[in-house]
Amino acid sequence: MKPAATSAPALLSAHSDIGDIALSEFFDGHPVATFAIDTRHVVTHWNRACEHLLGWSKADMIGTDHHWQAFYPRARPLLADLIVDNQPEQLPRHYGEKYRPCALIPGAYEAEDFFPNLGAGGHWLHFTAAPLRDSRGQVVGAIETLRDVTERRVAENALRRAYDNLEHVVHKRTAQLADMNEQLQEDIRQRHQAEAELRRSNLELTALNDQLSRAQQQLVQADKLASIGQLAAGVAHEINNPVGYIFSNFSTLQGYLDQLFAMLDAYQGAEAALADAAPAAAAALREQRQRIDLDFLRQDVPALMAESREGIVRVRHIVQDLKDFSRVDSNQEWVWANLHRGIDSTLNIVSNEVKYKADVVKDYGDIPDIQCLPLQINQVVMNLVVNAAHAIGAQRGRITVRTGSADPDQVWLEVADNGSGIAPEVLARIFDPFFTTKAVGQGTGLGLSLAYGIVRKHGGRIEVDTAPGAGSRFRVWLPVRQPGPGAAEAP
Ligand SMILES: Nc1ncnc2c1ncn2[C@@H]1O[C@H](COP(=O)(O)OP(=O)(O)OP(=O)(O)O)[C@@H](O)[C@H]1O
Ligand SMILES: [Mg+2]
Repeated sequence: MKPAATSAPALLSAHSDIGDIALSEFFDGHPVATFAIDTRHVVTHWNRACEHLLGWSKADMIGTDHHWQAFYPRARPLLADLIVDNQPEQLPRHYGEKYRPCALIPGAYEAEDFFPNLGAGGHWLHFTAAPLRDSRGQVVGAIETLRDVTERRVAENALRRAYDNLEHVVHKRTAQLADMNEQLQEDIRQRHQAEAELRRSNLELTALNDQLSRAQQQLVQADKLASIGQLAAGVAHEINNPVGYIFSNFSTLQGYLDQLFAMLDAYQGAEAALADAAPAAAAALREQRQRIDLDFLRQDVPALMAESREGIVRVRHIVQDLKDFSRVDSNQEWVWANLHRGIDSTLNIVSNEVKYKADVVKDYGDIPDIQCLPLQINQVVMNLVVNAAHAIGAQRGRITVRTGSADPDQVWLEVADNGSGIAPEVLARIFDPFFTTKAVGQGTGLGLSLAYGIVRKHGGRIEVDTAPGAGSRFRVWLPVRQPGPGAAEAP
């Protein structure tokens, strides 16, 4: 169907009507696919580019209103149709959001869409439709140009895909990085943990090492004391016999001397009577008496005897201490005893030695009776208290005797003083027998070694806490019960 001359577009009417040949050729030769319709939707122009792009010939289209066939499988209005009908409100229904008004030409619209029926695999078309008006401005038709933008869209799609891909890779990489970061954090945490563990075990090792070296020192000390103990036992045994007979001879000697002095008294009494009977003998006797200063001898011999007796008594004590120190032959019985009672009686015994030098403070804890050799424990307490008193200088001091218990199987007793304290180089030797810092005749150096031996025999131990000038604290740990026979008979 040929379009009517009256419906020719205004654009072309300046030169001729819509069917003008020269214009048709111009239209035909235009490289952009273009077609035009009149107000009845009849195709008036369909150029070669259009034929080429859409695959429909001019002959198929011009004069028909089937131009939709070139694009869609079913009849529907094209952009040009909606513009001819002046129905822009219908645009969304047919083009969704793919259209927009054309910026250059008023009343024109453009859109872009994919047409699957075009060509082998479909084509993307960008199309613009504008109204055609006559000289009075009346719409007489519409013209629509079509540009194949498949390549651009394909490129765009490829670009989008590449972009999406890139984004995906970035996401993946970011996730990987986050993972790695997390792993790293975990590694660091583990490293910190391992370091803390290492530090802890190092501390434990150091503590263990300290314990070991202390134990070693104790072992060396115990070893030393054991061999010294043997030596002491031997020496004590050897000295014990001669001291025994010197001591018993001493009593006899004292008796003899008493008799001799009585005899001398008798002679002296007879001297006056002898003066008349035998003046020469009497004079010789007097002269002899004056020469030897019998009066002085009479005074001095008992003093010498007393002094010697004291000396011998001291030797006997030392021998006894030595024997006690190395005692294996103890015939004492293990009994359940109250430690506080023993301490009290011991403090009474030594009170003479202590009372002028220090106040004694008792701070007894709640402790059970213990299985022990009470006399020997008293000996330990005595030695510690006497040492404490000796450590106190010119100023009156304080000696504190404490007891306590850390667990049901052990008790401790402690003698603390605020005296001189013990220098480190001395501390290592205080338990050695005969080690003393006291003046000759004042200390035998056996007190602590004796205490050590006794405490060891009880299965206990002695701890010393001291510093020069800060006083000393001797703590004796004792087990509540002794292993072996008698252990079951708890009080
Ligand atoms: N509480 C103390 N404060 C200061 N030094 C002390 C104390 N206890 C002991 N010592 C030191 O340890 C040394 C050894 O003591 P230990 O009791 O064995 O012998 P001693 O007291 O010298 O003589 P003794 O045989 O008469 O007890 C002492 O000479 C003294 O130097
Ligand atoms: Mg002592």
